[in-house]
Amino acid sequence: MRKEKDYYFQKAKKDKYPARSVYKLDEVQKKYRILKSGQRVLDLGCHPGSWSLYAAQVIGSKGNVVGVDLQETDLPSQKGHAEIHWLCYDVYSDDLIENLKKEWHGFHAVLSDMAPRTTGSQYADHQHSMRLVRRAMEIAGALLHENGIFYCKAFQGEDFPEVIRECKPLFQTVKVVKPDSSRKESREVFIFGRGFKRKKK
Ligand SMILES: C[S@@+](CC[C@H](N)C(=O)[O-])C[C@H]1O[C@@H](n2cnc3c(N)ncnc32)[C@H](O)[C@@H]1O
Repeated sequence: MRKEKDYYFQKAKKDKYPARSVYKLDEVQKKYRILKSGQRVLDLGCHPGSWSLYAAQVIGSKGNVVGVDLQETDLPSQKGHAEIHWLCYDVYSDDLIENLKKEWHGFHAVLSDMAPRTTGSQYADHQHSMRLVRRAMEIAGALLHENGIFYCKAFQGEDFPEVIRECKPLFQTVKVVKPDSSRKESREVFIFGRGFKRKKK
């Protein structure tokens, strides 16, 4: 068994999170304070729910978390934490952005830990991941407040530099982050955009 898996897996169990992936958000939160009290947070690819639970705790009872996933998630909101609204949706659905807009009037943060079902082909997995990143960027572009933040998983590969080029004009700063809890041998990294620049109409 991998040493890292062991450590973060056990830690998640102890901290009562359903997945070890929570520490990929926790690390960036501790370093950059990306989420703040009272915010509205959109969590794309939220199942089994760790990032949403974590965000709900950080932003507290005045905030709201909306979690979206292909898979149904239904964990209770905790006392003193933000309410979490679990949506079972494919992010490629045509009506997702309009429905979120109607209900929420924008978000301070768009998070995405979306990952394709891996196929064994590194190239195919990379292409699927780039499609998910571009869709997450499109959703963020439609729903983020001015100065909002974007934190999004990506599997690196040949199209990754182009995706970063596409992301840069949307934010004041864009960084690529590799949390310690992300396995060293994995091509997974996170695109971290700060200071969303809404285009003037
Ligand atoms: C690594 S898991 C997310 C773990 C989650 N952040 C947590 O901490 O519990 C990736 C998720 O992305 C979701 N996903 C992949 N493609 C999707 C799509 N097209 N629409 C919505 N969710 C998608 C998968 O169903 C899966 O649950």
